[in-house]
Amino acid sequence: MKQVKIHDKIFEPYLFETEIQEQVKKIAIEINKDYEGRKPLFIAILNGSFMFASDLFKNLTIDAEICFIKLASYKGMSSSGRVLTAIGLDMDLFGKEIIIVEDIVDTGKTLNEFLPKLLHQQPASLKIAALLHKPDALVFPINVDYLGFSIPNKFVVGYGLDYDGLGRNLKEIYKLV
Ligand code: IMP
Repeated sequence: MKQVKIHDKIFEPYLFETEIQEQVKKIAIEINKDYEGRKPLFIAILNGSFMFASDLFKNLTIDAEICFIKLASYKGMSSSGRVLTAIGLDMDLFGKEIIIVEDIVDTGKTLNEFLPKLLHQQPASLKIAALLHKPDALVFPINVDYLGFSIPNKFVVGYGLDYDGLGRNLKEIYKLV
């Protein structure tokens, strides 16, 4: 594998396709075990999580549902000046066993804002599955329950993650040189 150029930046190979697939399978095995007989609902956050969500879901053997949502923020009247809404979340979450599927937890800001909105609907349980996590970048208290890789605080692309819209199609994950 060699370096790739996306827009103006050079990225080098970091996580290979085989190791990504292996980790995704491991997470699926754990979830299959933990959620046996519980029919969880996966909520995948677009755009970045589409590949991870798809591979994870393919490796599940339990009964499970999945929906894809997009988080949009707009300037509102809240004290923070920003309101986060979930587009496409049309299910009643009351009593559901929810697993959020994220591509990467970086500062944790997104989930820190979004999780209270979900909890408001009183699901039976709420867990987080993330392919990547940058512990050194974490600012908000987010605990990842099912994690693929803990990575250094470097910008990465590929396997669903983008740099300014491009790079999502790469089967491997690359990091900024
Ligand atoms: P957070 O709110 O800071 O945790 O950021 C979460 C979102 O930022 C992720 O879902 C990604 O879409 C994006 N993001 C964070 N780090 C990276 C990266 O290294 N590459 C691509 N996208 C990233």
